Amino acid sequence: MKKTLCFVFGTRPEAIKLAPAILKARDDERFNVRVVVTGQHREMLDQMLSFFGIKPDVDLALMRPNQSLAGLTSRIITGIDELLQSEKPDWVLVQGDTTTVWAAAVAAFFNRVAVGHVEAGLRTDDKYQPFPEEINRRIAGQIADIHFAPTDWARDNLVREQIPAERVSVTGNTVIDALHWTVARNKENPPQETKAIQDWLQAHVGADPFVLITGHRRESFGAGFQNICASIQQLAADDPKTHWVYPVHLNPNVQQPVKQMLANLPNVHLLDPQSYPAFVAMMHACKFILTDSGGVQEEAPSLGKPVLVMRSTTERPEGVQAGAVKLVGTKQEDIVRECRAMLSPNAKAWPQASPYGDGRASERILDLLAEAK
Ligand code: UD1
Ligand code: UDP
Repeated sequence: MKKTLCFVFGTRPEAIKLAPAILKARDDERFNVRVVVTGQHREMLDQMLSFFGIKPDVDLALMRPNQSLAGLTSRIITGIDELLQSEKPDWVLVQGDTTTVWAAAVAAFFNRVAVGHVEAGLRTDDKYQPFPEEINRRIAGQIADIHFAPTDWARDNLVREQIPAERVSVTGNTVIDALHWTVARNKENPPQETKAIQDWLQAHVGADPFVLITGHRRESFGAGFQNICASIQQLAADDPKTHWVYPVHLNPNVQQPVKQMLANLPNVHLLDPQSYPAFVAMMHACKFILTDSGGVQEEAPSLGKPVLVMRSTTERPEGVQAGAVKLVGTKQEDIVRECRAMLSPNAKAWPQASPYGDGRASERILDLLAEAK
């Protein structure tokens, strides 16, 4: 009998990382597929659904402007709980560590529906770093019946927490599946948004080097973001020929300081969030990436692009150990020093590494789900 997989997600990174499994499961006769989006993000989620060609079966449309963690959590638990009272999938599948993940896992638990956790086992062992994601993924890990760990390190974290080893499998990270798919698409038949960003880069950056920036972590709101923006101001003043290209996250706590401190600088370019293929094209073309993003830390090493991470700790140590990622914190003097070193003519080449998988994680996840009791 076919198993029904209910994929529940709500934000940009979850959409990117679940898309490869959803697309594969839809073509797989072992499964019925339901796609339920909480709409924790609106525009940034829709951008990804549109690129991957995924139309949700249910859209709870729960995002509110500048939403609180508690308000969003209660809306998601109630929304998913009501849904699971009227339909009973064999599996609810969640990905990562957002509010959608743990709230959907709790609602599935209340309805005694089995939970599969994709990208399980990431840990910093500091409950405020990142905030609130470290606790979100721990709760999801306590509830999950099957854990898809991206790496051996992530599996070991779960086993150390007494999760039965037979419930944990190392699959690689599905983000590499999405990345490979998108790199091939950009090469063979580039979508309109890729062409548009390439034209934009040609017109505004030309042959000059550019640094690609993203940032959105809650633990950096306030002083951390002031420091990040002050660093970019200082670095942009160093050399008018180096460009700083920043697609700004739609969270108002990010938009406000970034627009206030970085608008109207001639070599700093603030863009809207970019569709996935356009962002991948920019990762390819840039000199290096300055970010606090989880997904970007995983993608950039396999593109051979250096990443400076504006955080003091990471749940993704594999990239750091491979020499493909460096933690620089959020202090202005540290960010400026490390970026200057990257831009210096004496900067050493960084290794290309792919500690997060071979692009076949979704396939492994579906095989495990087909076998799972
Ligand atoms: C969320 C996740 C974070 C993840 C990030 C990926 C939580 C607590 N945080 O952070 O783990 O790394 O997404 O980007 O789950 N907004 C829009 N349009 C959008 C998206 C956001 O306007 O498409 C604005 C809204 O005002 C919204 C606010 O951003 O209320 C915050 O969104 P939220 O999902 O709560 O937090 P993020 O900072 O996006
Ligand atoms: N990304 C994108 N467009 C952008 C910025 C990021 O497609 O303008 C992609 C990026 O390649 C990665 C994901 O979004 O796959 C990361 O999302 P985000 O940084 O919002 O969340 P995190 O990974 O930190 O949870």
